[in-house]
Amino acid sequence: MTDNKITKEKNKVSKLSTDAVEKALNKTFEEPKLKKTRFRPNIIITGTPGCGKSTLSKTLKEMPDLKIKLFNISEYAKENKIFESYDETRDSHVIDEDELLDRLETPLREGGCIVDWHCNDIFPERLIDFVVVLRCGTSALYHRLKARNYKDSKIQENIDAEIMSVVLEDALDSYDKRIVIELQNDEDKNIQENVDKIKTWIEQWVLDNKTGVTNEIDEFYKDRDMPEDWDSDEE
Ligand SMILES: Nc1ncnc2c1ncn2[C@@H]1O[C@H](COP(=O)(O)OP(=O)(O)O)[C@@H](O)[C@H]1O
Ligand SMILES: [Mg+2]
Repeated sequence: MTDNKITKEKNKVSKLSTDAVEKALNKTFEEPKLKKTRFRPNIIITGTPGCGKSTLSKTLKEMPDLKIKLFNISEYAKENKIFESYDETRDSHVIDEDELLDRLETPLREGGCIVDWHCNDIFPERLIDFVVVLRCGTSALYHRLKARNYKDSKIQENIDAEIMSVVLEDALDSYDKRIVIELQNDEDKNIQENVDKIKTWIEQWVLDNKTGVTNEIDEFYKDRDMPEDWDSDEE
């Protein structure tokens, strides 16, 4: 090879590596850790304890084409030890909600999550697409909670909450009414019916939102009123 040719080759190689670095850098900019847009819906499955949240959520997760990421919040909090305190009267741990929200921000921004929890009012509206409130008749609920060996006082507390629609009211207070849906879940056949309904909503949401839905608070509230209790530190 002549000196001239060698110089040319060297220039080519150095150009190639510059291109590769530039490409890698651009890729980093194109794929930030926190996604600005999601292309699959996030769903909260909520309801009084015993209503069937975990049964329904697990059945949905088993459907491979839905590619669901499931967060059973009670289990998730235990696994990740994100407790704030212990409530003696209720005999249960109190979850550190700020820590929980920080940890769920990234997966919720990616979309396709199901959140299984009886509390539904702490998640930011901008990240939630459907809130499914499972409902159950008192007789079925009593038998389910009795089978869990709950104390009578705890069974009664949950049955009262179900009769008074406490979880539904929380959802209606926290999210746009159009995304809150009640589903009856008393009998075995309801499980498949509810799975079919939710699967259809997910598929329709994907079709309706081909360009994605924003995860960003400013974009989300562009055409709406900011909530009165909005705290600019939330982000
Ligand atoms: N549609 C249904 N019909 C009959 N039993 C159900 C139904 N859904 C759930 N169950 C049963 O009720 C009990 C409580 O369900 P689970 O999913 O653990 O409720 P949650 O997660 O809301 O506390 C379980 O034993 C489950 O098998
Ligand atoms: Mg459960």
